[in-house]
This record gives sequence, structure tokens and C-alpha cells, in this order.
Amino acid sequence: MSATSFDQICYLIADDLTAIEKKLSEKTTSEYDFVDSAVQHVVQGGGKRLRPILLLLSAKACGYKGEDAHTLAAIVELIHVASLVHDDVLDEAPIRRGRETLHSKWGNKVAVLVGDYLHARVLSMLIARHAKDPAMAILSDTTQAMCEGEVIHAYKSGDFDISADDYLKIIGLKTGKLITASCAIGAILGTKDERIIQGLTEYGEAVGAAFQIIDDLLDVVADRKKLGKEPFSDLREGKLTFPIIYIHKVCTTEESTKLEHAFSSEINKVASIEWIESLFHRYQVQTYCRGVAQEYANRAKSALTMLPETSARDALGQLADYGVSRDW
Ligand code: IPE
Ligand code: IPE
Ligand code: MG
Ligand code: MG
Repeated sequence: MSATSFDQICYLIADDLTAIEKKLSEKTTSEYDFVDSAVQHVVQGGGKRLRPILLLLSAKACGYKGEDAHTLAAIVELIHVASLVHDDVLDEAPIRRGRETLHSKWGNKVAVLVGDYLHARVLSMLIARHAKDPAMAILSDTTQAMCEGEVIHAYKSGDFDISADDYLKIIGLKTGKLITASCAIGAILGTKDERIIQGLTEYGEAVGAAFQIIDDLLDVVADRKKLGKEPFSDLREGKLTFPIIYIHKVCTTEESTKLEHAFSSEINKVASIEWIESLFHRYQVQTYCRGVAQEYANRAKSALTMLPETSARDALGQLADYGVSRDW
């Protein structure tokens, strides 16, 4: 496992990331004070900026040198932030990026509308670019797929009949699509070579799967100080995730009945959460999830062999491993 830190991976694009922070706040400013405070609360609220980083590194790895990537990188982050604001309403989450969530602070109405506001800003940023921009089609499809994935996940949230494969399809929509779009848009900025664009698309799909599997794992095992989210949120919500689907498959019949019961009714009881946490140890769930995620990361890294050898390509490879070893 690569021990390269996240900041080391990003050093190649440090100046671009500063420019993107500026763009993010400039492009989302509202002339109305309250709207602006609510919007900036989420836009400037930290976060790893993974999608802009993937877009910039993908563009760089394909030889791109311009600044147009900054707007597109800001756009993918804004789509992400909008999805988080709405996701936190769905999940009734109290904390995000180490801060109170928007709906906790100002209510669901404000949160839903701020998410919509951010999508509207995205549309206007896209329209301000060229009409034939391929990013427009990619990003409108992506936004649709993310919503579809979230709807299906919400609908299937307590359904233990869902298989790991079904679940991987859902996360391919709700999380994988935007990560993949970020890589593909970066690639398209730098090259017309379809094989390279395809390589980065496959890279993005695999990184997206690894990323959400680890996100699901971190709900239970994260470094509490770094996570920036409330631990055990998925459990409290009774939300089926990759580790839970695995435990349900490998545990005893007695445990699986108890698990189903816990998810259907009593999951908010501390005892249930502690019991589920003990199953994570008994069935070595962390090792299993990190192992599956590493297989995806390896698949992602193989897809990069299509690209010329550059430091940006190396950074993308390290980022795939980081997605697996991360603890926040
Ligand atoms: C959280 O994404 C939601 C998922 C799709 C797993 P990130 O873990 O990238 O969240 P931030 O942007 O760093 O806050
Ligand atoms: C991903 O799912 C959310 C989106 C794609 C919007 P999660 O619900 O697992 O994300 P977190 O854990 O709240 O960040
Ligand atoms: Mg959530
Ligand atoms: Mg999660």
C-alpha cells in the first residue's frame, strides 16, 4: 500500500486548487445576504475536493495545460455539494465536513432550495461555456443518474434481499457517475484519443466503487476526529450498505434474523449498534471491505496503463490507493 499522503498526491495541482476555491466562492455568491450565508456555509465547508482533483489530474495526464479546467472542476464540486446537501436531508444527518449540516441549521426547506440553487449555478456556468461542450451532456446525464441512484438506494434501504451486485450497481449511479464524469471530462480536455478517454472512464468507475465501499465502512470504523460526519449514521438510519450486506450473507441464521430485526426497528438503540460493531470484528469486515476496494483500485490502476507515463498519471494511481487506505 502506498503511504503517499493526500497532500503529496495533490502537490502537482496545488495552484489550480487555490484557483478553484476562488472560483467556487465567486460563482456561487448571491446578492441576498441570507442566501449567501447558507450557500457559502456548504460551498466553503471543507471537503477533500476529490472530484476537482480527479478532473485536474486526468486533464494533466492527457497533456492539457489550459485554465478552462478550473471552471469544470468547480462545476463537478458544486454538483457534489448539492448532492450532499440533499443527501443529508434524506439521511437526517447532523454533521457534514465537521460542521452542522444545512438542514440542521436552517431546516429542510432551506437545504432543499440551496441544493437547487447550486444546480442552477451549475447550469448557468455550463451555459456560459460553448454550446457544443461535451461536458454539458455528460454532466446532465450524471446529475440524473445520481438522483436515480439515491432514489433506488432510499427505496431499497432496508431490503435484505438486495445482493452485493445490486448494491454495486446502485453506488455506480449515486457515487460512481460523478467521479467517472470528472475523469472523463478531464480526459476530453486534453485528448481526442478514444482509448485514453475510455481508460480514464474505466479508472473513474473503479475508483468510484472503491470510494463508496470505504465510505460505507468508515461509518463504523472511521477515525472519529477526522471523519467530519456523525459515526454510525448509516446504522441509525437503517441504511443497507456494503459491509452490512456482507455480514448478512456470512453470519449465522440466528444473527441474520437479529440483524434484520435491528434494521427494521431498534437500530437506534445503543445496544444494537454495539452488537453490529462486534459483528464487524467477528467477521473481519474491515479487512474484507478494504480487500474488495483494493481490487477495484487495482482495476483502476490497470486502466491507467493506456496513458503516457507522467507524474499526473502516477498521482492518479496513488489516489486510487488512497481511496482504499483512507480513514476519513
Ligand atoms: C461523500 O463524498 C459522499 C460519497 C459519495 C461517498 P466525499 O467523501 O468525497 O465527501 P467530501 O467532499 O470530502 O466532503
Ligand atoms: C453518497 O452516499 C451520497 C451521494 C452520492 C450524494 P452517502 O449517504 O453514503 O454519503 P455520506 O456518507 O452521507 O457522505
Ligand atoms: Mg449520507
Ligand atoms: Mg456514507
